Amino acid sequence: MDSPFRVDILNGKVALLTGGGSGIGFEITTQFGKHGAAVAVMGRRRQVLDAAVSALQSQGIRAIGIEGDVRKREDAARAVETTVQHFGRLDILVNGAAGNFLASPEDLSPNGFRTVIDIDSVGTYTMCHEALKYLKKGGPGRDSSTGGLILNISATLHYTASWYQIHVSAAKAAVDSITRSLALEWGTDYDIRVNGIAPGPIEGTPGLRKLAPEEMKVKLREVIPLFKIGERWDIAMAALYLASDAGKYVNGTTMVVDGGLWLSQPRH
Ligand code: HXC
Repeated sequence: MDSPFRVDILNGKVALLTGGGSGIGFEITTQFGKHGAAVAVMGRRRQVLDAAVSALQSQGIRAIGIEGDVRKREDAARAVETTVQHFGRLDILVNGAAGNFLASPEDLSPNGFRTVIDIDSVGTYTMCHEALKYLKKGGPGRDSSTGGLILNISATLHYTASWYQIHVSAAKAAVDSITRSLALEWGTDYDIRVNGIAPGPIEGTPGLRKLAPEEMKVKLREVIPLFKIGERWDIAMAALYLASDAGKYVNGTTMVVDGGLWLSQPRH
């Protein structure tokens, strides 16, 4: 589907996207690139990164891949430094890296719980912390009045409660809280906007493949108010809105893009 946005809305911007080589993250990377940004993609799997970067470059997008794990502070720091060395600055950090699997609390070990918190929550915080010096107003490559932007990919699982997702729900609740705290503190001190996006079920993603087998997808469609599962494109358009000047007064919010699913109730 064509983008409703002008193709130059991110011209001159540099974005670093964790988990940006596959799934929803890759669509955000692609749309950022198509709208003028240079993109650095961070991920754990070399093959996934290589494929992502060559697909991006074949569309004329300036792109690099950086192998690393957001759980390692030195990897986070290296990803930020490599991005700036290559493209000269950093304007947008997208925290998309996430871990997920279905497990009941009976079967989930404390280490399994911690692993997802480490990737989603601590990983998000670590990336923000390492990127601050380049995102703040007056930082290298930027003027004294304009800061950059952080976008945290979240979920809606924790708005209520979700079966077999105690670890991810806790992790994403922390991510939303990080979004609000940094929006307050870094918005005030450094002119950095910090927002999130909470996708609902999105077609063709590892999340949906793992969490909803085909037969559940049919049921899911029936309870989503718009009667359809979302597309990666829907999330990328929300990201473009938040990253562009259109979203310049939006700070500290997590935008739900789920067709209204989390509100869904049986009709009485
Ligand atoms: C129970 C599990 C498990 C499972 C791992 N563990 N998989 N427990 N059921 N299926 C436990 C292990 O037993 C271990 O605990 C601990 O977790 C660490 O496991 P490792 O395999 O050593 O971890 P690691 O290799 O670091 O892998 C982390 C991972 C990984 C999270 C398990 O597989 C991963 O990142 N995969 C998912 C990537 C992904 O799907 N991303 C998209 C996310 S979608 P013990 O106690 O045995 O040591 C998303 C959407 C959410 O986030 C919202 C949907 C609507």
